[in-house]
Amino acid sequence: MEKFIFQNSTKIIFGKGLVEKSLGSEVRKFSDSVLLVYGGRSCKLNGSYKDVTSSLIEHSVHFEELQGVEANPHISTVRKGVAICKDKGLKAIVALGGGSVIDCAKIIAAGALSNTDPWEFVSHKEPIESALPLITVLTLAATGSEMNSGAVITNEETGEKYGVGRDSLLPKVSFENPEYTFSVSKYQTACGAFDILSHIMEQYFGDVKGSYVQDRMAEGLMETVIHFAPICLEKPDNYEARSQIMWASSLALNDLLSAGHSYPWEVHPIEHPLSGFFNITHGHGLACLTPSYYRYVLNAKNAKRFKEFATNVFHIDSSLPEMEASLKGIVALEDFIKSMGLTLHLKELGVDKDSFRKCAEQALGENKYLGEFARLSEDDIVNIYNKAY
Ligand code: NZQ
Ligand code: ZN
Repeated sequence: MEKFIFQNSTKIIFGKGLVEKSLGSEVRKFSDSVLLVYGGRSCKLNGSYKDVTSSLIEHSVHFEELQGVEANPHISTVRKGVAICKDKGLKAIVALGGGSVIDCAKIIAAGALSNTDPWEFVSHKEPIESALPLITVLTLAATGSEMNSGAVITNEETGEKYGVGRDSLLPKVSFENPEYTFSVSKYQTACGAFDILSHIMEQYFGDVKGSYVQDRMAEGLMETVIHFAPICLEKPDNYEARSQIMWASSLALNDLLSAGHSYPWEVHPIEHPLSGFFNITHGHGLACLTPSYYRYVLNAKNAKRFKEFATNVFHIDSSLPEMEASLKGIVALEDFIKSMGLTLHLKELGVDKDSFRKCAEQALGENKYLGEFARLSEDDIVNIYNKAY
């Protein structure tokens, strides 16, 4: 195992009834005046907005609101939030929603303590030095943003979509009430489940040496998603299934699986330009790209890992030769995606084929190759887009 430092200080408060009970007192530890950030109407329909605001009021926390954060959140919305924090002198942020709301809140938190335009942070032109404390109330299990230091923001004028990570963006406290996710649509539940799976796979398909404990945790988490996502789709108000998926979302991307070994993280950079330019749902973009990417990069050298994935996660016959088992694992993954009602074809998401070169350029940024696992060139990325089309 390689050397590593692991520190994840987000306090998780998990279970039903705890937002009403403890949100206000947890927020008060940081400030008595906050910006409450949320998206559209979902939080008002499922009761989470009422729980949050009553708890803030009960603990005499003054709050201003920023509503309407978009899926694939826009930099202009971040700027609005920064302006409110500065105008009103707010000293902490409460994010109520899924990954888009939480990510937007993270960059608002950074922008509020700086005179730099927040797009400079997102596009890596300026480092984030500090951020206001962030408390999150999660309503959609997917990104892991509730327990990590990353944020992904879209510049709606250019279509650019980038991720940025900084310790100061790590939420101080995150509330996870699985009941809030009962109202998530089947479609968003499926996309969220695939996003969780993808986060685990991105860290699993790496160097096979020295990552035994990480690999077994990853396989357990993947099995959890594969087992419980269909139950959430079948019975949206199944508390136990929603709980398992919600906690899996946080564990999948809180640095636990990546510590101590190298990992490629190659599909996410390829997907982000698609959701940036075409506003598709991130998890669905990943679901289209992942099997095509695996078919493209599978070879005799890395088949050992693919076979482990096939046999340990999808229980494919382990006596099969490496290549055969590996391909069966990819087919099983495709079947799982289709069973959740998602397509494998970007074409069906309204993605324009002519954009693939531009998307590949954005995925690569300044680099010639992407990742360490397959070291994808611009042509490779375009080929993968075409195969997923
Ligand atoms: O706006 P509202 O009305 O809240 O509706 C949202 C939105 O339309 C709805 N929703 C959320 N909670 C709900 C609900 N509907 C009913 N009931 C509820 N309880 O779901 C829709 C999608 O929400 P969004 O927040 O966009 O989804 P998700 O959590 O999947 O976040 C996606 C964003 O996160 C980024 C993605 O790229 C994308 O921009 N990511 C962030 C990461 C991170 N910070 O670590 C990592 C990920 O890989 C990802 O890139
Ligand atoms: Zn993701």
